Amino acid sequence: MSNERPQCPKFLDSPFDKATLAKLENFVQPKHSGTICVVNYKGGVGKTTVTCLLGYYLAHGSPSEKVLLFDIDPQCSLSLALGFDPDEVSKTELTIYNLVKPSKWTKVTKTNFGGYAVPVKDQFAPKNLHIVPGSFDVDHLDFEIMQTLVSDEKRYQEQLFLYVKQMLMAFSEYKYVLIDCPPNKMFLTQAMLRASNFYAVVTIPDIISTYGMPRLLRWVKEIPSAERPKLLGYVLNALNRSGGGMVNSQATADFRLQQSIQSGLDSNEKKVIGANPCLGRIPRLDVIAKFLGERDKYSRFDFFNPTSRQPSVDECIDDLRNNLKQRIQKYEWVEAVAATIAAQRDNPKQRSQTYNAQP
Ligand SMILES: Nc1ncnc2c1ncn2[C@@H]1O[C@H](COP(=O)(O)OP(=O)(O)OP(=O)(O)O)[C@@H](O)[C@H]1O
Ligand SMILES: [Mg+2]
Repeated sequence: MSNERPQCPKFLDSPFDKATLAKLENFVQPKHSGTICVVNYKGGVGKTTVTCLLGYYLAHGSPSEKVLLFDIDPQCSLSLALGFDPDEVSKTELTIYNLVKPSKWTKVTKTNFGGYAVPVKDQFAPKNLHIVPGSFDVDHLDFEIMQTLVSDEKRYQEQLFLYVKQMLMAFSEYKYVLIDCPPNKMFLTQAMLRASNFYAVVTIPDIISTYGMPRLLRWVKEIPSAERPKLLGYVLNALNRSGGGMVNSQATADFRLQQSIQSGLDSNEKKVIGANPCLGRIPRLDVIAKFLGERDKYSRFDFFNPTSRQPSVDECIDDLRNNLKQRIQKYEWVEAVAATIAAQRDNPKQRSQTYNAQP
């Protein structure tokens, strides 16, 4: 991943007219390669918990790699959990609301994006973990976006998407950017998802949740294929164990989730996660519930204690982080191979030269 700030085309700094829209057809700007939306429009399944834990573990595991969290949920759970008072932060005007409100969409080159990312407050947090804090005002943002879209929906939806994509690219010094999404399909959630390179679904293993999964995947499939984020897998959160294994209803739910996900994968996703779409498993434990709410994060030290015949929280999140990194790397390989094959197909001369060069 390059650390250079990407060049931004000047035309993004003005409201789009028809000629600009036409230009967009040929406008292919890369995505920030480490952006991951943590999604599910079902509420209370652990999206914020997983974003928070993954953020800590990714940052802690590689101190030289910076990790950024985005709180785009008007409930501000992630910011609150990490010791921010959203009302106080709002006074600084350095929140996600101020960063993505419609008046910002035409100020791509003039915005100091880096100023919105601040270190996480808790004293045990790794120094390389930062956050763009949330704001309660985000609940009004969708209305503001809607008002803007009413005048010309296609034009402004494109402008929001490109603005968000460009904004995420501005954080290229961060190896990973984790976006904690709210349990809804707000315009901002849609734009973030479309602008992200990857997404991971967090779910609890109950039968009701299995019904929502195909709808969630269909929603992502509505994004044009060139811009669609790639699935890293699903995280099974809040597992109850019995005798070391999953309880029966949860095992059934897991089986159904696997089936519904496997049936909707595109060819690259099949190559990377087809055999096992589950990204990781997290037990339901008091120590995890405490971690989200506790300011001083003392519960982090209980993560190393295994409860009866189960892996410790530390082992579970380590696994989750390692799988996530491996899958990102596998996608990079699969895409590199596909790009090489496409280049050789478009330029057969190069192919024969390559073959001739071989011993
Ligand atoms: N593995 C777990 N063990 C125990 N408690 C958990 C676990 N995962 C989540 N919780 C608790 O469940 C509640 C909901 O979790 P969380 O806020 O992460 O869900 P969410 O999907 O982000 O919710 P929302 O949709 O409202 O944003 C929180 O109180 C959290 O502490
Ligand atoms: Mg949440």
